[in-house]
Amino acid sequence: MNNRPTVLSGIQPSGRLTLGNYLGAIKNWLPLSATHDCYYMLVDLHAITVRQDPAVLRERCYEFLALYIACGLDPKNNVLFVQSHVAAHARLSWVLNCYTQFGELSRMTQFKDKSAKHVDNINAGLFGYPVLMAADILLYDATHVPVGDDQKQHLELTRDIAQRFNNIYGAPKHEIFVVPEPMIPPVGARIMGLQDPTAKMSKSDDAETNALYLLDPPDTITRKIKRAVTDVGAEVRFDIAEKPGVSNLLSILAATTGESIPALEERFAGSQYGAFKAAVAEAVVECLKPVQARYQELREDRDGLLAVLRDGAERAAVRADATLKRVHEALGFIPE
Ligand code: TYM
Repeated sequence: MNNRPTVLSGIQPSGRLTLGNYLGAIKNWLPLSATHDCYYMLVDLHAITVRQDPAVLRERCYEFLALYIACGLDPKNNVLFVQSHVAAHARLSWVLNCYTQFGELSRMTQFKDKSAKHVDNINAGLFGYPVLMAADILLYDATHVPVGDDQKQHLELTRDIAQRFNNIYGAPKHEIFVVPEPMIPPVGARIMGLQDPTAKMSKSDDAETNALYLLDPPDTITRKIKRAVTDVGAEVRFDIAEKPGVSNLLSILAATTGESIPALEERFAGSQYGAFKAAVAEAVVECLKPVQARYQELREDRDGLLAVLRDGAERAAVRADATLKRVHEALGFIPE
């Protein structure tokens, strides 16, 4: 084990990366490498719980990796890798399956939502999805997991599994797993859809105008924000129950500019929705400009991207294999 605290997080390579993924996750990863050992994955094993086209999946992994780097994640200071390249994830996931209850997994809201959406493919992987996520986290002794609000329930389950395993196999000063804490940003942890501000903005949304994608051109961003659903009344005020549309735009503006919501309410007191939306659009365009400028060049250097993944997998495996060994020993497996 190591002296610096460790963070680990990941994104499913499905759909297209949204502003929600950026504000809820990636943006908050950026400063952590100064103080933490950082591991960031593309969770391709998780992605196949829903049918994927193989060629599209492969290209998307390159695209997402290029976007990670374009957002400012330097591969020298952050271990960037693909989940399927580190065999310990699938191996620990199997073990943890045997320490997770059917009832616990049945209560996961993401499972309930996804099984309602994919009725023809409610596979065992979809059910066991949170166990693989627990393995991802526990393999790296992650002390903190920076995620958006929707992953909170999975994090709680991870903590429960870790504590259960420690209670059975650990000793007071020799715990097997580090019990991780979620790291959820105060603003931006739950960005909602522009057309339906009562449901979260999602990578795999069918409605093109509901989400802002990191690679949307500036005029598309501006158009989508101008057409975003707002609420009755003309007041720019943060009130999720009464004004979900305006509140969501306020969250976006606060998270992209770093200004507080009360300061923004004051700034836009008496303004029309039109002026407010124009300010939100400008802030988002400015925030994504440097990312989009860097992206293209990175995306074209496929060999460079592959080299990052090879190096990342090698560095990740060192930590992951050590944990898996500790677990196998605790279980009584004959050492390999
Ligand atoms: P995924 O791919 O759905 O989302 C990636 C990250 O983006 C955050 N996020 C949002 N934040 C704010 N507003 C939104 N509308 C929004 N939509 C998504 C998510 O909270 C997440 O942080 N199960 C995970 C991937 C995963 C993982 C892990 C995460 C697998 N193993 C280990 C952390 C640690 C998922 O499907 O995220």
